Amino acid sequence: MNRILVLNPKGGCGKTTIATNLASYYACEGVVTALLDYDPQGSSVRWAGQRSGDKPPVHCVNACEKHKTTMTKSWYLRIPAETQQVIIDAPAGVSSAQLQEYLRNVNSIIIPVMPSSIDVHAMARFIEELLLKGKVKQRGIKVGIVANRVKAKTNSYKSLTKFLSAIKLPFVTSLRDTQYYVGAAEHGIGIHEIITNHVDVDRENWKNLYEWLQTPEALRHSTG
Ligand SMILES: Nc1ncnc2c1ncn2[C@@H]1O[C@H](COP(=O)(O)OP(=O)(O)OP(=O)(O)O)[C@@H](O)[C@H]1O
Ligand SMILES: [Mg+2]
Repeated sequence: MNRILVLNPKGGCGKTTIATNLASYYACEGVVTALLDYDPQGSSVRWAGQRSGDKPPVHCVNACEKHKTTMTKSWYLRIPAETQQVIIDAPAGVSSAQLQEYLRNVNSIIIPVMPSSIDVHAMARFIEELLLKGKVKQRGIKVGIVANRVKAKTNSYKSLTKFLSAIKLPFVTSLRDTQYYVGAAEHGIGIHEIITNHVDVDRENWKNLYEWLQTPEALRHSTG
């Protein structure tokens, strides 16, 4: 079972958008997919509730619900035993204790960031915490950054790319700012399930992310 965590304590940067789009992609690929919503706002749960029965299923679990067993066991028991891909949608404002919980058994972490100086500074602080307290490198967890709500050619996007080229974490892809994401979320689908060639450019951007998620850590380092 592979686990992807979508994480950034900054609110509204695109965690749920990325988590739900990934879930729809893997489900459409025939992968048995579970989406764990750790956010009390329940945005992923709501997304899954909008998903019609004729779409490839995404098994969405409200991981905030308290059960008698530990948090991990409780969601584990509520996803199909044959689950191949788990996607975790984390809430904003994660505490250090929660961070440790989310990191358990995770293979990859995606950090979405919006091109704004406030968001970039918040992310820089968070990355430091993740590397130090989360010990992601020691645990063999790969971490990648996704720029979200990008408007190409803006100064803020240029500043973000400059910042990302200076840090050691991979800058995996950029997702443009488009209402297609908002529309897809309302219907419980992902960008790849929208039938229009207006999102071909977006689907191309996502390919970078899927490829990065598939690439083993060792290979990724050796190919630079
Ligand atoms: N690339 C995009 N283009 C346009 N709108 C977007 C894009 N990504 C996210 N949004 C919109 O921005 C808002 C916030 O996104 P989202 O809910 O995914 O962020 P979040 O990090 O999960 O927020 P929270 O921290 O509150 O959980 C939503 O209304 C979403 O539809
Ligand atoms: Mg969210």
